[in-house]
Parts: sequence; C-alpha cells; structure tokens
Amino acid sequence: MKKKYKILVTGGAGMIGSNLVKKLVHNGYNVFVADNLWRGKKEYLSLDKKSMIIPDNNFYQVDLTNYKKCLQVTKQMDIVIHLADVVAGINYVFSNESSLYRTNTLINTNTLKACIKNKVKKYIYAGTACSYPKSKQSKINPPPFKEDEVYPAEPESAYGWSKLMGEYEAELAYNSGLINIEILRLHNVYGSPAELDPSISQVIPALCRKVIESQNKELVVWGSGRQKRAFVHVDDVVSGFVKAINKKTKFNGVIQLGPNYSTSIAEIAQRIVFISKKNISIKFDKSKPEGDFDRMANNSKAKNILKWSPTISIDKGLKKVFDWCELELKKKQ
Ligand SMILES: NC(=O)c1ccc[n+]([C@@H]2O[C@H](COP(=O)([O-])OP(=O)(O)OC[C@H]3O[C@@H](n4cnc5c(N)ncnc54)[C@H](O)[C@@H]3O)[C@@H](O)[C@H]2O)c1
Repeated sequence: MKKKYKILVTGGAGMIGSNLVKKLVHNGYNVFVADNLWRGKKEYLSLDKKSMIIPDNNFYQVDLTNYKKCLQVTKQMDIVIHLADVVAGINYVFSNESSLYRTNTLINTNTLKACIKNKVKKYIYAGTACSYPKSKQSKINPPPFKEDEVYPAEPESAYGWSKLMGEYEAELAYNSGLINIEILRLHNVYGSPAELDPSISQVIPALCRKVIESQNKELVVWGSGRQKRAFVHVDDVVSGFVKAINKKTKFNGVIQLGPNYSTSIAEIAQRIVFISKKNISIKFDKSKPEGDFDRMANNSKAKNILKWSPTISIDKGLKKVFDWCELELKKKQ
C-alpha cells in the first residue's frame, strides 16, 4: 500500500483508535480522525500540551450517526478504518440496549454507505467476539471459536447484534461488488489510554482503578469472577490492522484477532492486586451482571492469512495498563 494514501480512522480518539493513529503516522501515512468524543479524548492524540500527533485540520469532531457528516469526512479518503461505535462496560451495555443498538447501526450503515459513495478503496471494519452466539459461550471451556461459528446468530447483547449487523452489511456490499473490505473481529482488547469513568469503563481499567483507590483493603469484582475472556493487548490489535491495510489479497471472510486461551476475571483481579503490591482481599458480587461465560479464538486464520499472532503476555500487558492508570489518577488529584 502506498505510503501517501489518506487514511481515515473513525473513532480515532478512542483506545484502539488513538494507538492505531500513532502507528500509522509513524509509518508515514496521511492520517485523519473522525470522532464525536463520546468516549474518546482529543488528548489521547496529543504529542505534548500544545500539539497533536495529526494536524488540527485532520481532526473532525463529528457525530457519525449523521450521513451528511459521514459523506464529508470520507471524501477523498483511500482507506477508512471504521472503529467508531458506542463501546462501554457491561453495565452500560445492558442498561442502554435500545439506544446503543440504534446508534451503532446508524454509525455503521452511514459510514459504509458514505465510503461506497466516495469510492473509498478499502473499508476496514472492527467486529467483536461479543457477536458469537450466547449458547456457545455459556459452556465451561468451550473449544476456541472459528470465525463462521458466529452463525446462526444469537449474540447475548444488543451491542453484539449491532456489531454483527455491521459485519453483515459490509459483507453484502463486498459481495455486490460495491467496495473492497476487510473485517477484523476482535476479542477483549485492553490497553492504554483507557476510559476510567466507572459508568462506561471496561473491566481491566475498572479493576485497576478500584485497586489503586482501594482504602478499605477490599476489591469488589462484578459477577462470580469465573467468567473468562480472551484478552488481547491493544499493541497486538494495532499490528493486526496494519497487516489488514497492507494485505494484497482480496477479502477472505472475517478474521478474528485474539489468543486461543482465555483468562478468568478472578485471575485478572488477582494479578492486578499482585502488581499493586497491596494487601487486598477480593470479593465477588454475584448480584451484578457478568455477561457470557467463556470464549477464546481459534486464530489459525489470522496466523495463516495475516501472519498475525498475539505477542504481549497478560502479565506484561496488565503492568503497562496499571502503571498508566496510576499516573492518570495522580494527575487528577
Ligand atoms: N475494546 C474492546 O475490547 C473491543 C473488542 C471488540 C471490538 N471492539 C471494537 O473496536 C472499536 C474501537 O473500540 P475501543 O475499545 O477503542 O472503544 P472506544 O470507546 O475507546 O472507541 C470508540 C470511539 O468511537 C467514538 N464514537 C462513539 N460514538 C460516536 C459517534 N456517534 N460518532 C463518532 N464517533 C463516535 C467514541 O468517542 C470513541 O472514541 C469499536 O468498534 C469496538 O466495537 C473493541
């Protein structure tokens, strides 16, 4: 792929987006960002207090539920990496299912339609492992999922449905010859910068914050702690997107990014407590939602087609996030 290509990253001020933008700028691309800053932050893209990693003119603060805005921001783009969507922790997702489904569906359908209209050369969509069927994720130690096991569809949440419909519509457009696409279906991505507001943060930053702020020597974890996820560090995910940009072959169906093993939330909590060097006991609040029980990726497609495998161990990744959270919370004091 030519280095002078214009790349738009929607949701580029978010956790995955801001890391990806930094990598693409470093690789010499002309990078643009479209984000309404619902959860992303402009400061995630700053180099220092004065300047941003991309020129100010390359940052569009827009709501992508609006088709006209989608048309404006995708104009003359060669590649669009579409990451913008409402993403949040489990409590937010299950308390706002109707509005979340509608918002994500509008963002995804409008962005795709605008990319087709503006003849974007490649549209890269981020799907989620939350789209796998609920019944398959309710077993203990299920075999690692293959990509096509997402159908017959039965995601547990409106979030999982909205993201799956985004995949489905992109595939329809590709199959109708309207646009070239890639779809990466991500397992549980963690890293920094991360949202620390407890009402919308995800499990790892939420647990780091609770441990850092713990006064009462007790960490309360939502659910039984037995629920497991295939956690993948954001740096590994960014390398997957870079490979998808550079992929020369045509779309070979969805490719999932994630490890072929899962880690329980109880284990994550223990590791974070260990990193903190605090003497904290862990309690499980079983009255709170915990989502699907277990899932992990059969990542042979990523290995064979993208030459991608996860490289960052959970211990190294958790330490990086914990240190970042500690610094961030200190700044707020
Ligand atoms: N983090 C994960 O574990 C994970 C797992 C699977 C898939 N994904 C997908 O990866 C993508 C990025 O996720 P993330 O973890 O970086 O989340 P994030 O919340 O940090 O990033 C999403 C960005 O989209 C922006 N956004 C939300 N609504 C918008 C709107 N109406 N218009 C414009 N921008 C809007 C937010 O402000 C945010 O910056 C999402 O599509 C998500 O579904 C994430």
